[in-house]
Amino acid sequence: MSSKGATTTARWGPFKSLLVLAPLLIGAPTFTVYQHYALPNPITELINPQTNLPQLSEAQILSYSKLLSEDIGYRTVGTIEHALADEWLTKKAHEIKNECEEIVNRSKENGKERKLECEVWRQQGSGSHRFDMMGKRLYKTYVDLTNIIIRVSNGTPEGKEHAVLVNAHLDSTLPSPGAADDALSVAVMLECIRVLTNTPTWEPVHSIIFLFNHAEESLQDASQLFSTQHPIRDSVRAFINLEAAGTVGPELLFQATSEQMIEAYSRVPRPFGTVVANEVFSSGVLLSDTDFRQFELYLNVTGLDMAVVGNSYMYHTRKDLVENIQPGVAQHMADNVHALLLYLSSSESPLPALDFGYTRPSTVFFSHLGYFFKYSYSTARILYSIFLVASLVLVAFTWQNPAPALKSSGRRGGWIKENLKATGAAGVTFIGALIGVNLVAAVMQYALGRNMSWYAVELSALALYGPAALAGAFSTQLLVARLPERTMFSGLLLSLAFSTVFLQFIGIGSAAIFFLSAAPIFVSILLDSLSTGGKGPMSLWAYALGQISPLLTGTQVICTVFDVFVPLTGRTGREAPAEHIIASLVSITGSYTLPLVLPFSHRYGPSVLKRFVVILSAITLVMVAVFAAREPFDELHQKRLFVLSSENVTTGERHLHIGAADGAPGLEALVEGITAEFGAVGSSAVQEKMDDWNGDWDILYPFSAFMSPYKVELPPVKDYASPYVVGGSMPFVIEAINDVIDEGKQTRSLTLRVRHPGVIWTVIAFDAHVLWWTLDDSPPDEYARHHIKEGSFYGVDTWTIDLVIRIPSPGIVASTLDSDKVPSTKERAQLKVNFMGVQETAMWPGKSHRTPDTSSSGGHSQTSSDLYVAELQKKREDAALPYGPAMQLFEKLDGWLEERTGGKVDGMLVGSVGGIVVI
Ligand SMILES: *[C@@H]1O[C@H](CO)[C@@H](O)[C@H](O)[C@H]1NC(C)=O
Ligand SMILES: *[C@@H]1O[C@H](CO)[C@@H](O)[C@H](O)[C@H]1NC(C)=O
Ligand SMILES: [Zn+2]
Repeated sequence: MSSKGATTTARWGPFKSLLVLAPLLIGAPTFTVYQHYALPNPITELINPQTNLPQLSEAQILSYSKLLSEDIGYRTVGTIEHALADEWLTKKAHEIKNECEEIVNRSKENGKERKLECEVWRQQGSGSHRFDMMGKRLYKTYVDLTNIIIRVSNGTPEGKEHAVLVNAHLDSTLPSPGAADDALSVAVMLECIRVLTNTPTWEPVHSIIFLFNHAEESLQDASQLFSTQHPIRDSVRAFINLEAAGTVGPELLFQATSEQMIEAYSRVPRPFGTVVANEVFSSGVLLSDTDFRQFELYLNVTGLDMAVVGNSYMYHTRKDLVENIQPGVAQHMADNVHALLLYLSSSESPLPALDFGYTRPSTVFFSHLGYFFKYSYSTARILYSIFLVASLVLVAFTWQNPAPALKSSGRRGGWIKENLKATGAAGVTFIGALIGVNLVAAVMQYALGRNMSWYAVELSALALYGPAALAGAFSTQLLVARLPERTMFSGLLLSLAFSTVFLQFIGIGSAAIFFLSAAPIFVSILLDSLSTGGKGPMSLWAYALGQISPLLTGTQVICTVFDVFVPLTGRTGREAPAEHIIASLVSITGSYTLPLVLPFSHRYGPSVLKRFVVILSAITLVMVAVFAAREPFDELHQKRLFVLSSENVTTGERHLHIGAADGAPGLEALVEGITAEFGAVGSSAVQEKMDDWNGDWDILYPFSAFMSPYKVELPPVKDYASPYVVGGSMPFVIEAINDVIDEGKQTRSLTLRVRHPGVIWTVIAFDAHVLWWTLDDSPPDEYARHHIKEGSFYGVDTWTIDLVIRIPSPGIVASTLDSDKVPSTKERAQLKVNFMGVQETAMWPGKSHRTPDTSSSGGHSQTSSDLYVAELQKKREDAALPYGPAMQLFEKLDGWLEERTGGKVDGMLVGSVGGIVVI
């Protein structure tokens, strides 16, 4: 546009100006959203008909994922389905090994021997590890868990010296068939092996270890087992962890711990990841964790963590099914993983040099509209510093004294003072926006009781809180003195440039996003002052130019932030201030995306500004009304309800425990409904006090603290004799053996043995001053509460720990004993143990006898496993018992929930057994 155009636009009123900018304001985000979620076209054929070479096939990947998640089903650690998945993959691994051998033999016959070897291990082992979570100390112990490992190498010792590990987990969590989490990644790995080994020209210089890890959801036991006990663990130089917390969109790179691995990632065909995601995840605010942690801890090598994150509503629910995985997701993941493996196993690979452990990355990286950018922190520091200096120079030279008559600001250096004011105004605007949204959040939550109204649509919170953020931002500008539009522009540039430098110098790579938005504002100030001589209002095209980059970057930030955080509020617990968090995120990401709102608000003076505030407030009111009428949940965005049907083996009591993981209104009514329908006659629901000493929810400890659960008495079941009681067919027993009290040292040493036939995921909790135990080297040196969880292979029914405890002095135990007399040493040495576990046969719907519907399984004809699937299903059916009381209850309760809520609730229905014993 010419400068003439600029002088014309200056006369346009606010609404006409906005109208002119509208195509940009709407077009840029629309384009970005389209780009952000773009996925490759799924491929069906296994062989490319043109080249006759093998190609990555999404159809093949999904057929494996479907086999695991539907034909085999819920692969919860310790269940028969879990064992069947192990059996299936072991068989598959041996097929792959045989195929490799055939390929090599054929190549020999053709006179060009292929350097290729596939080796298979089925690792089975036991161990224990400390696994702190949510600020709580926790221990895991496991017996006979498994991993299936395929190493693909060129068959030479040199080729096996350095390896890249690729990991995905074969198990699924308690209430989920885990099609995306993580059968999809397992299937991607299988497909990568097929394509690599069948590509005639491919020979790995360095080996690839495919780890099919079979216990992640039980708190990362199997990755710990591999990392601490497997014979080839020392050859791992780097790892790639594949995960899923969603079913839609490209796979996000969200953790990277070396420059070399970021460099490796820069070669994938469709990069998708940023240093921002990396820094947010590693800050721990997501309360989430992957096997990445075990590999860092026990292998001490660098790695990449990648996951599908879009549409995270079905994560860890029964809807994590292949039918809900978006077409193209598997293809995207496979294409990128394959490219990484090609590079890392090639002669160019950095693997041999990766001997420095892992580091916080010192590389800024981000994908932007399909491109991938990376530069080192030192480059970033230099670049941003130069930019800051250039910005200061630009502002100093282009500054025109708006009021030369005023002596004070007319002096040289007046630009500093004025720009400081403008920077202050920018800060105030930001705070104003935060206040605006949080006021509205308080109204939604306290005045209307309609929190989480935005839950079902990730971006809808923008509609509710966006206008409020703007109204808040503009209101503050009514309070500050009117500043010239130009000074607001330059003040904004300087505050962004300062923030960039400051953040980068304290080691935060996310500073890049401030640089991305500041750079074009610099250009627009420069061009505008060249064309207008720095007088009069800013030209409208300066706004357009300055806004493009924040719009493009900001839209991507918004997509990722809301994709992750909105569904997360459905599982962060009942007390989390979800409404305020989401409202604040709207205001923070919005401020970033629309920085030029600030100078624009000073373009037309206070009366126009007032009109803006009034209009935006009116829109806010309308939005509040619209959202107050919305229901947070629907069939595809369900509420998570946790239900335990517990059986106390000591007292014989049965209870229903009901908890939720979100703070949305309506739980009380639901609990009352359940109580009336299923509770004992005359019983009522009691809200439980959750602390470390309440063992009712220990199978979910420490997450249980976030659920504020209710407890309802269940009616007695006619003719039911519990098999879990002492004297029953499968008694659940905690006992002390090898028990020795040392009166002199005042210690007791014992083996604590837990026998749990038919019960999985056992957990015990007790108070003691532990001096030594087999769990780790450093039990806390004090009297404290301990939680120990177990996860083991199907059929394992005993685990033990050895420990030595200090016998507490009479004062400590007196309060826990009933009688007044001074307790004997033996009495003082006793341990009061809360114990609990899950009935292997009582999980709904994982254990419902409804056989999966295989009629629609289109992909199956491509796997050679049809016969095997029938065999698997038969094994499952043979193992199924008649429904016990818990399953009978769940069948009815699930139907009742479905009807009562119209499918808006996903129930995790689990039958538990537990009690308290003094040993
Ligand atoms: C990891 O490896 C590096 C390089 O060998 C070493 O300096 C560092 O101490 C190791 N870290 C741990 C926790 O073992
Ligand atoms: C949601 O609103 C209800 C009032 O209906 C309130 O009791 C509850 O604490 C709120 N939830 C959260 C997470 O703030
Ligand atoms: Zn997972």
